[in-house]
Amino acid sequence: MLLSKEQINRHTPEMADLYRTHLEEELVPGLIHFGVFDQTLAGEVIKAIAAIKNYGGQWFLWGCVVKPDYRGQELQKQLVNERLEYLKSRTDNARVYIEPWNSASIANLQAAGFEYQGQTIHEDGETIMSVYRLEWKRD
Ligand SMILES: CC(C)(COP(=O)(O)OP(=O)(O)OC[C@H]1O[C@@H](n2cnc3c(N)ncnc32)[C@H](O)[C@@H]1OP(=O)(O)O)[C@@H](O)C(=O)NCCC(=O)NCCS
Repeated sequence: MLLSKEQINRHTPEMADLYRTHLEEELVPGLIHFGVFDQTLAGEVIKAIAAIKNYGGQWFLWGCVVKPDYRGQELQKQLVNERLEYLKSRTDNARVYIEPWNSASIANLQAAGFEYQGQTIHEDGETIMSVYRLEWKRD
């Protein structure tokens, strides 16, 4: 689900930690956040997070982290679909930069219809990233 401001405020330290630990990325400004939670007596527990970002008019799917205990339950697929639903009324395409070895993520992107476009260098100036793109008819 799309996270509310209150949810983002409540979970920012843990979200930042998940991005840092699993993706070596920082929480940057301008991200729109999605998540899957468990509702427990103690409150909301994060199972998975993901984001989207607009760079100069182009929408990107940003990092997705599924906590290790919840992997293999298609939560990444769910978050890909939720983010595409959100984008469908706002644009007609989305891009993703993904590390070429990340076969689980690539399989999920291809299942959603994303197609390989080529490779680019990450903004760190070193890492090679594969570019995937999906285009649709706008709602
Ligand atoms: C990549 C990632 C998002 C996949 O999330 P997910 O919700 O587990 O995805 P899926 O349920 O589709 O599973 C993907 C594959 O990983 C396998 N898998 C990985 N870890 C698993 C675990 N702990 N338990 C069970 N299956 C696991 C699944 O079986 C599946 O393989 P298959 O398609 O051959 O059956 C998750 O592993 C993750 O957060 N990794 C670290 C961060 C990252 O790389 N993010 C993606 C880049 S943005």
